[in-house]
This record gives sequence, C-alpha cells and structure tokens, in this order.
Amino acid sequence: MPKLIFFWVIMLTLFSPAKVNLFLRITGSRSDGYHNLASLFQTISLGDLLYLALSDKDELTCNDLSIPTDASNLILKAVDLFRRKTGFCCNVKVYLDKKIPLQAGLGGGSSNAATVLWGLNALTGAQFSTKKLQEWSAEIGSDLPFFFSEGTAFCTGRGEIVQNLPKINYPPMTVVKPKMGLSTPAVFSRFRTIGLIKRKMRDDEEIQNALLGKLSFYNDLEPAAFQELPDLVYIKEKLLKTGFQEVILTGSGSALVCFGEPHTHPFLEDFFIEKVEPLNRSANCWYTCVRK
Ligand code: C5P
Repeated sequence: MPKLIFFWVIMLTLFSPAKVNLFLRITGSRSDGYHNLASLFQTISLGDLLYLALSDKDELTCNDLSIPTDASNLILKAVDLFRRKTGFCCNVKVYLDKKIPLQAGLGGGSSNAATVLWGLNALTGAQFSTKKLQEWSAEIGSDLPFFFSEGTAFCTGRGEIVQNLPKINYPPMTVVKPKMGLSTPAVFSRFRTIGLIKRKMRDDEEIQNALLGKLSFYNDLEPAAFQELPDLVYIKEKLLKTGFQEVILTGSGSALVCFGEPHTHPFLEDFFIEKVEPLNRSANCWYTCVRK
C-alpha cells in the first residue's frame, strides 16, 4: 500500500499538442522506403492529456477504447526507448485522455510519444537535454523530433532534421476531419505511383517568406490522399465555398486545415470541427494549454 501511494504522489499531467503542416513539399524518395520532405510544422492548441506515474508494471489506459494500448502504441515504445537509452529500470503507468482525432495527419501518436519522453526525463531528474531526447525520438517515428522544437519549425530529411523558427503570425485556423481517416503508409505508397510534383522552391526563401507572414499553403501529399479518400475533394470545395481563404490537407490527412474566417458555419454532419490557435512552449517547459 505505501508503495502505491508513492507512485501516485509523483504523477505528472502533461498536455500533448497536435501539429499542422502549413506547407509540405516532398523533395524525393529514398532507398530506405521513406521520402525526403521540406515542411513548416506548427503545434496547436488542440491536444491530449497524459497522466504519467512510476508504477510496478507498464500499463496504458485510454478514454478512447478504439486505441490499441498494447506494445504497438507509440507511448509504450517511448517508455521502452527511454529505458534502453538511459538504463532507467522502473515501470510506468500512463492514462491517455484522447482528443486529437486519429489517422488525421495531426501527429497525435507522435506527440504522445514525445510527451512521454519529456515526462519520463522530468520524473527522473531531467538528466538528459532536449536535444538528446529529440535525437533518440527519431528512432520511433519521423514526426517525433519536431515536438522537441518550441512549436514552430522547418523540418527536412524524413522529418527528423528540425530547424527551430521564431513564432509566426497565422490567419485564424480551423481543423476539419471527416469520420474516415487515412493511413500514412497508404498515402505515401499512393504518392509513389503519382510521382513528384516539380516545384521551384528554395528552403531559405520559403522560410524567410513565412517569417515575414507571406505564407505558402500547399501539401504535395494532397493528390495521393484525395485518391485514397475521394470525398476529400468535395469536402475541400465545400469548405472553400463557406469563405475560408485556404484549405489544405495536414500531413498525410485526412484532416484539413482551413485558414481565415468563413461567412457561414461549415455544416458537415459527424465531422470533427474545431477552431485552433498556434501553441508554442518556452525553453525548458513542456507545452501547456487550458483545454476547452
Ligand atoms: O516514421 P513513421 O513511422 O511515422 O512513418 C510511417 C510511414 O510513412 C513510413 O513507413 C513510410 O511509409 C511513410 N513515410 C515516408 N516518408 C516520410 C515519413 C513517413 O515515406 N518522410
């Protein structure tokens, strides 16, 4: 009994934000099966809550029963990775309060895993630098390293080369996701059959433009995602008709990010629709957000 009390006393509650891609350019395919990309990533106010405590066995529970809570979940992969890298030998109990839609291109699973790495480091005396955690995190997913930036970053390679950027002013953002999700490997595999979109863009020029507020909004994975889920073509048209200035797929979808203010509320039955704000963290603190 005293052991249990000890475990819960040191429980951490952490916000785990979603991300959106303002632009996403695929610059080539690689021999390891991945693709090189160049993308502006931004963390947003939509997010999950993670409750983390040391325990006598690894245990993951979640409010969303459709989420696998076995070793395939990136959260438990992150716990294992932390143990392997640091020699930490405790077990961990995690409760995930899920709000970020799944199979959406919003980076929910990657964010959860990055949050767990941060949390375990904090729970065990913060012995490892953010840079170290970021470097390790690439072993479990291409999107994880981004979450160790301060929330705004230009990412290249397969996503793991992260260049931190200062905060950017964005137009109002609304995330819209239909019930159907998309699988990232399926969208990338469809992309291979379509081929690269030729774009004459230079990284440094695109970063400078973004910092000056001259944002590009595009996603080279859109044609592949729209072939995988043709309803997205009609949904995007409908959203543009309600008055949003730009509507683009985030990541490999199926969520769309709408920029600007619509004239009328986009009525789409059974859809996830939420206004979001960009969210940045300060150095040495994890992301915080009062959830609505
Ligand atoms: O790295 P992660 O496990 O999130 O990637 C999932 C899948 O997405 C990969 O197996 C690959 O098919 C595809 N992918 C890609 N190029 C990237 C990132 C992901 O082809 N830069």
